[in-house]
Amino acid sequence: MAAVIKKVGVIGAGQMGGGIAHVAALAGFDVVLNDISADRLKSGMATINGNLARQVSKKGVTEDDKAKAIGRITLAEKLDGLADCDLVIETAVEKEEVKRKIFHELCAVLKPEAIVASDTSSISITRLAAATDRPERFIGIHFMNPVPLMELVELIRGIATDDSTFEASKEFVAKLGKQVAVSEDFPAFIVNRILLPMINEAIYTLYEGVGNVEAIDAAMKLGAHHPMGPLELADFIGLDTCLSIMQVLHEGLADSKYRPCPLLVKYVEAGWLGRKTQRGFYDYRGAKPVPTR
Ligand SMILES: NC(=O)c1ccc[n+]([C@@H]2O[C@H](COP(=O)([O-])OP(=O)(O)OC[C@H]3O[C@@H](n4cnc5c(N)ncnc54)[C@H](O)[C@@H]3O)[C@@H](O)[C@H]2O)c1
Repeated sequence: MAAVIKKVGVIGAGQMGGGIAHVAALAGFDVVLNDISADRLKSGMATINGNLARQVSKKGVTEDDKAKAIGRITLAEKLDGLADCDLVIETAVEKEEVKRKIFHELCAVLKPEAIVASDTSSISITRLAAATDRPERFIGIHFMNPVPLMELVELIRGIATDDSTFEASKEFVAKLGKQVAVSEDFPAFIVNRILLPMINEAIYTLYEGVGNVEAIDAAMKLGAHHPMGPLELADFIGLDTCLSIMQVLHEGLADSKYRPCPLLVKYVEAGWLGRKTQRGFYDYRGAKPVPTR
């Protein structure tokens, strides 16, 4: 029998954690949102408020739904505020040692029957599970960015994940109104395993002078009906994140076809990380994005 999930803890109030808290609260779950930074908790809540307001103005959500969703979210500056959650989803930075430390501290206070999940984009679920006291109740629940808009969630079982954890997670995702794709626990799972080599190849196409930024993005938008060009998309994801996922693929699968493009490395070294730093393959500092190559 799958466990009943009513109360959801979210660790990390950044773009992913805030988005997960938003959709879970809107779906009727009680949510406890945690972050090491009190400022991040405040700005995370402000973003949730703003995004819900946008949904109200687009008529997808009523004022009453919005007020109820906000009312279901409580903030916790310490992990012991998550002790009685039925499911805790970790969405802190993509650094294995940070995640391991969080799981160690969380498991010391969390009720034993609770499920623990990570939203990692690329780190092995089996390895993260081994850092907890409950590998059988540990799972990868990988949301897509931006969470309120994207329809898919990948579910990744670690080697020890039991059936009831998997079924409860599947039910949870269905209640959020999202579709599940089940992935085995291999580097970068399904979406990023396919998407990131395509983006990396687009950067090689630029690096080798086959086309410029505009030509490459126009080619894939108009020639393959992609809603965003690959370089525009790379800027949206963050070039540092793109590089770290390529490194996980390269190291994890030991195949030279995943080698990160030197031009991607150069942009990251320059601190041109895409939209979040206002410069990447496009410069976002003016009224309109301008290609940087
Ligand atoms: N950005 C994406 O497109 C995307 C998509 C899917 C999954 N992910 C994954 O989600 C995770 C978070 O990514 P993000 O884009 O939301 O990052 P982000 O930088 O927006 O947010 C991370 C948050 O975690 C907090 N944090 C750091 N250490 C913490 C700790 N010890 N305890 C509690 N909170 C802590 C930070 O203060 C920050 O608010 C990563 O594992 C990433 O790989 C990201």
